[in-house]
Amino acid sequence: MTFAHLNLSSYPLFLAPMEDVTNSSFRYLCKYIGGVDVVYTEFISSDGLRYNTSRVKKKIKINDFERPIGIQIYGHIPENMVYAAQVVEEFQPDFIDLNLGCPAKKISNRGAGSGLLKNLPLLFEIAEKVIKAVDTPVTAKARLGWDENNINILEVALTLQNIGITGLVIHGRTRAQMFKGTANWDYIGYVKNHPQIKIPIIGNGDVTTPERAKECFDKYKVDGIMIGRAAIGHPWIFKEIKHYLLFNEKLPPLSFNEKIDYLKKLLSIMVEENGEKWGVIKIKCHYANFFKGIPGIKELKVKLLQNNNYKENLEILDFIKEKYANVFNFN
Ligand SMILES: Cc1cc2nc3c(=O)[nH]c(=O)nc-3n(C[C@H](O)[C@H](O)[C@H](O)COP(=O)(O)O)c2cc1C
Repeated sequence: MTFAHLNLSSYPLFLAPMEDVTNSSFRYLCKYIGGVDVVYTEFISSDGLRYNTSRVKKKIKINDFERPIGIQIYGHIPENMVYAAQVVEEFQPDFIDLNLGCPAKKISNRGAGSGLLKNLPLLFEIAEKVIKAVDTPVTAKARLGWDENNINILEVALTLQNIGITGLVIHGRTRAQMFKGTANWDYIGYVKNHPQIKIPIIGNGDVTTPERAKECFDKYKVDGIMIGRAAIGHPWIFKEIKHYLLFNEKLPPLSFNEKIDYLKKLLSIMVEENGEKWGVIKIKCHYANFFKGIPGIKELKVKLLQNNNYKENLEILDFIKEKYANVFNFN
């Protein structure tokens, strides 16, 4: 299977772009553990790039270890999107991805992200201009449409294909759904299996287990699967899913000790990359997910979430490791 002209192995798995989550430290850890084929940066505001916001530029940094990687950009002003694509191209991503799915009001109500699904002429103008402006392959990630009365993903896919997009990720929700309800994979399958669709279609939404991943590949025949929230606090999910897809058997679960060690590794990379304060702050979403559902952990979890000191975080993690190792099986 090729996506953005990249040759990918069987059952390609994609780490979803997630603002404030898929920074380079987390991407590194996912790649380090294995199973993930393609990663993305967090989305980059084309307007922010145009006006040279330093926070935006920091998010573009990529390491060779993470490849293949896409830099995702968003916006609704064609000139700014072209400018942003040319700026990010200098960082030599393997592809540049257009965000057509962000449901946040401050973005979509301005006509960017999923707002573009309400203004197809503008969407296609942006895609065409960006594709013309760069040599790097361009892909897109979209929702099904603005709301259930305006599902236009097939038209979007067919037109983007004609314009020259080299891969499309479909999140099986409308903008109106935000993150509620369940992702509708029937629409994803409908687009993927439409006789005129030739570009690779990657399915996204609510894949949280190896069994569900297999079902999505088998039933909907997608070219790849993208996983987002299920990877937060569980970066080993790709390895588990990939193993199941390839060998039709489950990997033995990681031990509690191994999982805590991965968290400590993530913490150390985050602190190295972002400094102590931001490194410790940035790992908290992973703590929250990692400890979800472990009985009796609440007090220690709160302690960890409230503490912004690197050394003390490590000490609390070690304490948890010692106290809970072999007590709970929470796979
Ligand atoms: C915290 C968070 C941040 C996100 N940021 C982005 C983003 O920057 N770009 C994007 O295309 N999608 C973003 N998404 C959407 C995800 O990429 C993905 O489409 C969505 O979570 C559905 O997949 P899942 O059910 O596997 O989580 C974000 C989702 C979450 C939860």
